[in-house]
Amino acid sequence: MKSQPNQMTNSHILVQDFDFFEPVTIEEAVQLVDKFGDRARVLAGGTDLFVMMKVERISPDVIISLHKISGLDLIQINKNGDVSIGALTTILALRDHPVIKRHYEALSKACHTFSALQVETMGTVGGNICNGSPAADSVPALLVLGAVAEIQGPQGSRGLPLEEFFLGPGLTALKRGEILVSITLPKPSEKMVSDYVKVARIAADLAKASLGITLVRSGNTIVDCRVAAGSVAPTPRRLYQVEEVLVGQTYSQVLVNEAGRLAGEEISPISDARSTSWYRRQVIDVMLRDLLERAWHSAGDAVVSEPDGYVSLPVQDLPSAVESKNYEQGKKHAITLNVNGNSYPVQVYPNELLMNVLREHLSLTGTKYGCGIGECGACTVLIDGVPKFSCLTLAIDAVGKEVTSIEGLQGLNGELDPIQQAFIDHAAFQCGYCTPGIIMALKGLIKDNPHPNEEEVRDALKGNRCRCTGYVSITRAVLAVTGENSQ
Ligand SMILES: Cc1cc2nc3c(=O)[nH]c(=O)nc-3n(C[C@H](O)[C@H](O)[C@H](O)COP(=O)(O)OP(=O)(O)OC[C@H]3O[C@@H](n4cnc5c(N)ncnc54)[C@H](O)[C@@H]3O)c2cc1C
Ligand code: FES
Ligand code: FES
Repeated sequence: MKSQPNQMTNSHILVQDFDFFEPVTIEEAVQLVDKFGDRARVLAGGTDLFVMMKVERISPDVIISLHKISGLDLIQINKNGDVSIGALTTILALRDHPVIKRHYEALSKACHTFSALQVETMGTVGGNICNGSPAADSVPALLVLGAVAEIQGPQGSRGLPLEEFFLGPGLTALKRGEILVSITLPKPSEKMVSDYVKVARIAADLAKASLGITLVRSGNTIVDCRVAAGSVAPTPRRLYQVEEVLVGQTYSQVLVNEAGRLAGEEISPISDARSTSWYRRQVIDVMLRDLLERAWHSAGDAVVSEPDGYVSLPVQDLPSAVESKNYEQGKKHAITLNVNGNSYPVQVYPNELLMNVLREHLSLTGTKYGCGIGECGACTVLIDGVPKFSCLTLAIDAVGKEVTSIEGLQGLNGELDPIQQAFIDHAAFQCGYCTPGIIMALKGLIKDNPHPNEEEVRDALKGNRCRCTGYVSITRAVLAVTGENSQ
């Protein structure tokens, strides 16, 4: 029997049973999504989907993973200069891509504001959009940048301006059988600058309010300007009245103030756990004034060159899977997991989580259960060297990948990893419960950035809770062995 919606039953496990499909082509995925309709959900990073399932807001009978479809995670420059971003591109890959950083700064900045490193490594831009949350951080940036959603369905493919994609909280324009395949961004116009700002209760939280902006300036005139807001209406949305007041006008403080005042009027916020409607109206006014001023000044300095700096870098290219797979619900399936350099044959149900399989099947209890919904980081492991939440990863989804848990850091003779030793030396090892997850997040950081600075260490830890607030000693310990000055 299913329990009442919104009752937090047990986030330790994924209680619902489902058939799990791994198609290897978009066409196959579309067929499956069409066939199962409302019974099915598509799986990208799972950071929204599995949380929604664990808190029993949704209960799909079928999950269709996009992970085995190659090419869905690429950022490419088209011949006409447009940029195509595959739906499976992770927030982290988008954040750090040189073209996005240089020519679509608002989007890179928006991706930087996500509330956990593990959410950035797992969450995808397609999932962020298709989840339909008013607070989705990538969306205000994509809206001002003129994004078009490329959709594939049983009737073929279609392009839909992102502005028309959102119908209400959790509601999108995707029809039965349709999948978001990619996002197209038009080639940035010369001299266009873009920016993004988010206000949240703490860094590790969804937005109370967010704003994206693009601006083109000529002398003292605002030639073009787009503004879009998140978390202040049932859907992320462009603020057309604000734009109308700004475009073609001479920049002045009076104009900036008027735009801010209008922004507060144009939104339709609600009061919820994160903020009151009143606060959202006040803060959007201030945010808009600040952002406009910032964009105006950087547009003055900007010589945003023709996109000759374009480079088409494959991001985290997926290995091509040769055959599609199907795991039936209620049955155990024989899989092999590669953990800490060893191969383990295990029998799992489709809904078994990596965290539980590590702890209960393999007795690797260093990986901890804290919240089960991506809020604490205690369950962090490395999957192919990347820190991820094992509480939001299916065990069957880890097949063919290299999983590293805290136990895998020990040397052959039992010696500790330098970070583990530094935790002891600098009193960073406190309650012990959250420590393994923290160390795994840090291992992920230094794999790509062997000598991080303090800000980068703190940013990497934003998804890991230390309730005794030992972050100072933790940061000190890491910097002692890896920091800029440790070389
Ligand atoms: C702890 C935590 C912190 C978070 N912080 C933030 C934050 O700061 N900012 C923010 O914006 N979000 C945040 N999120 C929400 C979430 O991580 C993002 O929305 C993320 O981008 C979702 O992507 P995903 O790949 O994990 O989506 P999934 O969970 O895999 O999918 C989300 C939904 O979209 C559907 N879907 C996914 N891809 C497609 C596709 N290509 N076509 C059709 N349907 C599709 C799925 O069926 C599902 O309904 C947070 C989540 C957690 C758990
Ligand atoms: S147990 Fe996975 S993030 Fe808390
Ligand atoms: S080390 Fe666990 S709460 Fe701080």
